[in-house]
Amino acid sequence: MSIRKTENFDNKNSSDAGVHHHLIDRREKWFTHRKTLEGNSIANATPGRRKSIKSWRFFSYSINFFNFILKAFFLFNRGKRNSEHCQVKLQDHIFSDIPENFNGLTILQVSDLHLQEDPALIERIISLVNGLSVDIISFTGDFTTKTKSVLSDDEISIRLEKLVSAVRPKVGAFGVMGNHDHAELAQKLESIGIKMLINEAVDLVREGQSIRIVGTDDPHYYFTKDSLAALKTANEKFTIAMVHSPELFDMASKLGVDFYLCGHTHGGQVCLPGGVPVLTHLNAGKRFFRGAWYINGMRGYTSSGVGTVALPVRFNVRGEVVLHFCRRA
Ligand SMILES: [Fe+2]
Repeated sequence: MSIRKTENFDNKNSSDAGVHHHLIDRREKWFTHRKTLEGNSIANATPGRRKSIKSWRFFSYSINFFNFILKAFFLFNRGKRNSEHCQVKLQDHIFSDIPENFNGLTILQVSDLHLQEDPALIERIISLVNGLSVDIISFTGDFTTKTKSVLSDDEISIRLEKLVSAVRPKVGAFGVMGNHDHAELAQKLESIGIKMLINEAVDLVREGQSIRIVGTDDPHYYFTKDSLAALKTANEKFTIAMVHSPELFDMASKLGVDFYLCGHTHGGQVCLPGGVPVLTHLNAGKRFFRGAWYINGMRGYTSSGVGTVALPVRFNVRGEVVLHFCRRA
């Protein structure tokens, strides 16, 4: 199987060299704009919504209070053990229009690593995925945590490189940015072989048939029209979208995406008995906070993620990496 770069937004007739330059220009433009948004603290949230600093402050006070309660009631260590007890989830998906040559495609989804919180997490994942046969690794964002700097970007990349080499995906590793990831990290990850899809798409070609993988920047804080333009290319062929959160479900399904992979919610991370989440951190698509879902002809999966954020605890929802099997009906 081969990977073909696709230039699909506004430069369809350019030569290969022209395409390459155009991609570089676009990436530079993205970087500058992303840095401005990151610096502003109030980033463009999901279409129609704005994040406020006030709500973030309230959230961080609540976290401190919750931490105090957990320790007072001797629950903190149990929550920590829960968070370290992650699983490989096997998930089947049936598609009527996936090309014949891609029947049986396997995608290992690794979401919300938040490596700053637990640098040893990679070792646990490696022992979990050992021996799996994987075509593609899909990293659906939040490699790091915005507010912590235990690891440098180099140290994060080294860990990810170790994971990718342990899995040895037959086609390759692809990633999208999360709301906790900073723009500089994208280039570092590409240097170790993870192809970042930032409002971009690639085609996978197998014996004359192809499918598309399109990735957007995080829509929770950093939505721009470029994400929309990228998703618009989905109507040309069978398309898998990688987006950090489920918040673009409506656009993606209407634009012809077939399979939507996302994370961000941690499945709630701290849930009431029965897996009922207290918080989902979603401005849209709250009902898609965890697991497999289906809407307007599009299949989706929201991973509960494998790491934790804010506090290293989980209750009533396990961390996971997901092995998706894509089969033709
Ligand atoms: Fe996130």
